[in-house]
Amino acid sequence: MAAVRPSRNDHWWRDAVIYQVYPRSFADGDGDGTGDLSGVRSRLSYLSELGVDAVWFTPWYLSPMVDGGYDVADYRTIDPAFGTLDEAEKLIAEATEFGLRVIVDIVPNHVSDRHVWFQAALAAGPGSPERELFHFRPGRGEDGELPPNNWPSEFSGTTWTRVPDGEWYLHLFTPEQPDLNWSHPTVRREHEEILRFWFERGVAGVRVDSAALLAKHPDLPDFVAGVDPHPYLDQDGIHDIYRSWRAIADEYDGVFVGEVWLPDAERFARYLRPDELHTAFNFTFLTCPWEADRLRAAIDDTLAEHAPVQAPATWVLSNHDVTRTATRYGRTDTGFDFGTKAFGTPSDLQLGTRRARAAALLTLALPGSVYLYQGEELGLPEAEIPLERIQDPMHFRSGGTDPGRDGCRVPLPWAADKPFFGFGSHTEPWLPQPQDWARYAVDRQDADRESLLSLYRTALLLRRSTAGFGDGPMTWLVADEGVLAFARTNGLVCVVNLSGRAIELPDHEELLLASSPLHSDGRLPGDAAVWLLR
Ligand code: NOJ
Repeated sequence: MAAVRPSRNDHWWRDAVIYQVYPRSFADGDGDGTGDLSGVRSRLSYLSELGVDAVWFTPWYLSPMVDGGYDVADYRTIDPAFGTLDEAEKLIAEATEFGLRVIVDIVPNHVSDRHVWFQAALAAGPGSPERELFHFRPGRGEDGELPPNNWPSEFSGTTWTRVPDGEWYLHLFTPEQPDLNWSHPTVRREHEEILRFWFERGVAGVRVDSAALLAKHPDLPDFVAGVDPHPYLDQDGIHDIYRSWRAIADEYDGVFVGEVWLPDAERFARYLRPDELHTAFNFTFLTCPWEADRLRAAIDDTLAEHAPVQAPATWVLSNHDVTRTATRYGRTDTGFDFGTKAFGTPSDLQLGTRRARAAALLTLALPGSVYLYQGEELGLPEAEIPLERIQDPMHFRSGGTDPGRDGCRVPLPWAADKPFFGFGSHTEPWLPQPQDWARYAVDRQDADRESLLSLYRTALLLRRSTAGFGDGPMTWLVADEGVLAFARTNGLVCVVNLSGRAIELPDHEELLLASSPLHSDGRLPGDAAVWLLR
């Protein structure tokens, strides 16, 4: 085992590259078809050789897996499908030995309906203190037969479910994910203890799921489009929660990354004030189409909104909820929008992959930290999952029109010639892998200097070893239409050509890296990017 320990740099999170592991689909150590912690432990050397600084694990806790683990039944127990708490502790220690920090995922907005609190609330009945931990209400209408309000679900459909005694409970996601009542001190205390529980076990950070949804208007009034404030999104009271969390994180030098989907830049930045969350995912960039003007605007907006609170930006191309980058960038519409997902959207994968390569160099050159979702470094496309194998509740709740998110959650291909591409051994993976995935397998890409994996490895090594990357200023350079060119410090320059024709490169001393070969006359082809030293 390489004995590189995480650096003692207190500000590591300002420019780290953080790899997202979706444990169910990363590596299957016991061969039962579901990825697990022993699988991750056996692949830590892969992550260390890739050159990332930290690993974020999507929820690994006890869960009925109605929403892929985002329905947590117990935060202090690892789901048996993944392993044990003892193994999680070993994994954290081993990752640390490899120089990798660990970030866990906390889902404060809701719990699983199998959580003891919810089971107790159901049993205790209307008016009980147990029900106060959730949002139970009588219904509207003569016999209470109508839901208490009109809130739309984040997963389409209703947000209220009626229980046999006649009361309704709120769930912004599925009925199996009842929302917690964050105005209740017990809910706050419990989560503070959960944070301590994981910080005590050596994790370096916490990702906060659905971070802008926790606080609800106390009257739970109807949602009226265009009328502020929204009754559950970004309520002012939420910041008090994060201030108390920050005080805890500071005791452990822990950091937060918030899942904050908010269109308003100023409201978004409030979450990143110095006494709240350290960072938040940059969905402006993630959803942006592959167009120079739009990308430039997204980058400028991002930097402008972070500057007043002095928080570092994050750059994210994909995650376990959105369409894989190579597929998205090969489509006519290269942006991402949950509302427009459809079955059978055509994609030119060769083009998409070329762009994904260029996008890798773009994101890794921007100021701030970068999130890399497992399989992104392999250029995995979005898989079409046969209807009968789909598991994602987003698909079912859409009435079957939304393909759901399983297409980006397919188990990783590790070895081209092994059963299940080396993901596991004797049992078929929980989601089917497309038959032609041998070409994406890690061992194939290992042996190919031109592969996307090789590009990522080289880029990450250079990003670590060359002054000018990460946190710090950037300046746009004059460039042709359709070209993004910017300078970092120490002579570092990144040029991304989205113009559709070959372009001359600016004067430079050294070509550090190119996402695709240059033309023989030194020009940069379309949909390609370079790092230069001037
Ligand atoms: C955001 C997570 O990324 C997603 O996977 C999950 O379904 C929802 N939050 C609900 O927890």
